[in-house]
Amino acid sequence: MTDPQLELTGRVQQALADAFGTEYADADPLIRPSQFADYQANVAMSLSKRLRRAPREVAQEIADRLTGPAAQATDDPFPGTVEVSGPGFLNLTLSDTWIAEQASEVLADPRAGVGLITPPQTVVVDYSAPNAAKEMHVGHLRTTIVGDALARVHEHLGNKVVRQNHLGDWGTPFGMLIEHLLDIGEEAAVAQLEAGEGNAYYQTARAKFDADPAFNARARARVVTLQAEEPETMRLWHIFMDATLRYFNKVYRQLEVTLTDEDIAGESMYNPMLARVCDELQERGIAVLSDGALCVFPPGYTGREDQPLPFMIRKSDGAYGYATTDMATIRYRVDDLKADRILYVIGATQALHMSMLFDSARLAGWLPEHVRAEHVQIGSVLGSDGKMFKTRSGKSIKLLELLDEAETRAGEVIKDRDYDDTERARIAHAVGMGAVKYADLSVSHDSEYVFDFDRMLALTGNTGPYLQYAQARIRSIFRRGGVSPAEATGPIALGHPAERALALQLLRFGSVVEEMAEHSAPHKLASYLFDTASAFTTFFENCPVLRDDVDAAVRASRLALCALTLRILETGLTLLGVPVPERM
Ligand code: ARG
Repeated sequence: MTDPQLELTGRVQQALADAFGTEYADADPLIRPSQFADYQANVAMSLSKRLRRAPREVAQEIADRLTGPAAQATDDPFPGTVEVSGPGFLNLTLSDTWIAEQASEVLADPRAGVGLITPPQTVVVDYSAPNAAKEMHVGHLRTTIVGDALARVHEHLGNKVVRQNHLGDWGTPFGMLIEHLLDIGEEAAVAQLEAGEGNAYYQTARAKFDADPAFNARARARVVTLQAEEPETMRLWHIFMDATLRYFNKVYRQLEVTLTDEDIAGESMYNPMLARVCDELQERGIAVLSDGALCVFPPGYTGREDQPLPFMIRKSDGAYGYATTDMATIRYRVDDLKADRILYVIGATQALHMSMLFDSARLAGWLPEHVRAEHVQIGSVLGSDGKMFKTRSGKSIKLLELLDEAETRAGEVIKDRDYDDTERARIAHAVGMGAVKYADLSVSHDSEYVFDFDRMLALTGNTGPYLQYAQARIRSIFRRGGVSPAEATGPIALGHPAERALALQLLRFGSVVEEMAEHSAPHKLASYLFDTASAFTTFFENCPVLRDDVDAAVRASRLALCALTLRILETGLTLLGVPVPERM
């Protein structure tokens, strides 16, 4: 089975090579969906200059190669029709038989047309990474949701995925956090942290640090014993971290995110490697001392007055920082995890840091040419006031409360449905989480958007609940018909234009999934699923499936289209991490 666009690309490239010579075999045929046919190829226009011939003439020559008598005489004739139009467009229309055949193959394929990447790659996905010293906020929510979708899609394509939750769990603030824990007692501290009040905890500790000299001195001394990994300090640090993690895990479980404790590789893990990172870079002259600080100066970065911009890996007081740890992440991921590709799913505001990091690591030879490292930039989530969505009426929004509110509001959406309480709660959970997650995924990851419950929970438009509802509705067709989707094996035959359009759409699933993985772009899969659900709606409005007067063969074909649509919506939503409720 083939994606229609790939099929046509291959055919047109072959025609180009036959007509104008093999040097044209790699030219991009510029195949695009068209209003007048299934697709159009715009290559004749772009080639006409190079060939010094009129575009229409070039187009005609390609058309002849595609469907002329010689082409039709081969054992693999063009599966459709070609027409030259306008200044030199090629309008390409696929035959119903070809589409139906391909759709039947996708239907029979347990992977619904999604291939496996061979050989599999090792893809490291760095995502979520909240800071233990502060509350996890909506920004972390989005990196968590987008990162999880990317991890899921790579796994589905057969790649080996290593999830890395780069927790902010180390550094000087932990001196005062541990001292505060001693002040208020372990039990009270644990209760507060488990409840997700890390921010308040931090602020109280900070206030004491600033106002109380004795506390300040204790906190500083604690940083020293923490750096030395002194056992009692480590015990207290673990109490703090374990309680904090229990809160993060509550958020992950509620969101149905696949991160587990196994995936934790926080800043503390890299602590023992930092001295060597600095020494080696200094010995090799990659990093140099500048006003006492150890810095790499990757070429091409300038700051004020055109001064070269430092990537500082050790401050003048000897302290390591975020950049040091991140240099260590690259080494570990390349050398120990054997990454072929590393995705850093992190806020767009860190673009400069990430870019200097990659360049510094390339300079050091720690990030070899064959390893792809990418900053998947996450755009900010804004409140209705257009500012960062962090606070409401002055106080910061607790993530778990936000998620609970999503579920409560989702309950409203389904309030007139006839379900018992357990079922209702289950659906409200799925719809609430689906709405929040889909809102993060359906716009491109680097753009900002406004957090708006009403919009994300709408049952119409490009929303999670719309897609959840679309698949639930197909399930109900099967329930009413008394057949299971697995029994709907076709064969698929196409009569009505809406059947044809739906089938053509279903053929593209595999290549869209690959595209999402290649470009780290969940929104491409999201908009594909939305288009698929829309094509299904048109089909369902025009083509009765269960009605008595529908001929048995037509009914079998239509049920098969329903089954394949359901499978693709279900698989696609699952790859995005959007829950799939049975009913809605
Ligand atoms: N903890 C950081 C933050 O909250 C994100 C860490 C991302 N990962 C990394 N390797 N830098 O901004």
